[in-house]
Amino acid sequence: MEYNEVVNTRRSIRKYIDKEVDDSLIEEIIKSAMKSPSAHNLQPWKVKIIKGNVKDQVAHLLLEKSKTSEDPSLVATANTILNANVLLLIFYEPLSKMRDFDVLSIGSFIEHICLKATDLGLGSLWIANTNCISSEISSVVHVPFECISTVALGYKEFLPKERPRKEYEEVVIQ
Ligand SMILES: Cc1cc2nc3c(=O)[nH]c(=O)nc-3n(C[C@H](O)[C@H](O)[C@H](O)COP(=O)(O)O)c2cc1C
Repeated sequence: MEYNEVVNTRRSIRKYIDKEVDDSLIEEIIKSAMKSPSAHNLQPWKVKIIKGNVKDQVAHLLLEKSKTSEDPSLVATANTILNANVLLLIFYEPLSKMRDFDVLSIGSFIEHICLKATDLGLGSLWIANTNCISSEISSVVHVPFECISTVALGYKEFLPKERPRKEYEEVVIQ
């Protein structure tokens, strides 16, 4: 796909069709994201690919958490995770003492994931709602790092309308 088409057609996808994402595509997406810039080139990211029962276990942990949370979006996000074919768990490997730098680096890594997924005809959803069950996720998959975000992947049911954006004049300070 041409660059502008990727940028202009990327959306947060919350409804997926029942179609398996080939492992080779997941690998291609992660290898593309590994090209992301990172502060001091530390590349402080680790990824665990989960599907099926393990993925659904994460969704159920989130549904459990929603019972004691004020945030109504947890249930919707849990349902998206159930509906998606793949969930990427993005972990933070603390290689420096500069957490703020590393978090920015991981944000760049995740955006690369979402753009490459779009390029390959897949939908994605960047999820931070799973951060409230971060330690539970680490236990489920036996990974000794903090799960800082997750990304749902799958074939989209439809392309949602673009969400509104601020005006250029609002963004650029005169
Ligand atoms: C850091 C971050 C966290 C997000 N977390 C969630 C989430 O937990 N659940 C969800 O449904 N969407 C989540 N989103 C998606 C945003 O709601 C979405 O990007 C925004 O509404 C703009 O829509 P678009 O991505 O389709 O352009 C997140 C996006 C970002 C960048």
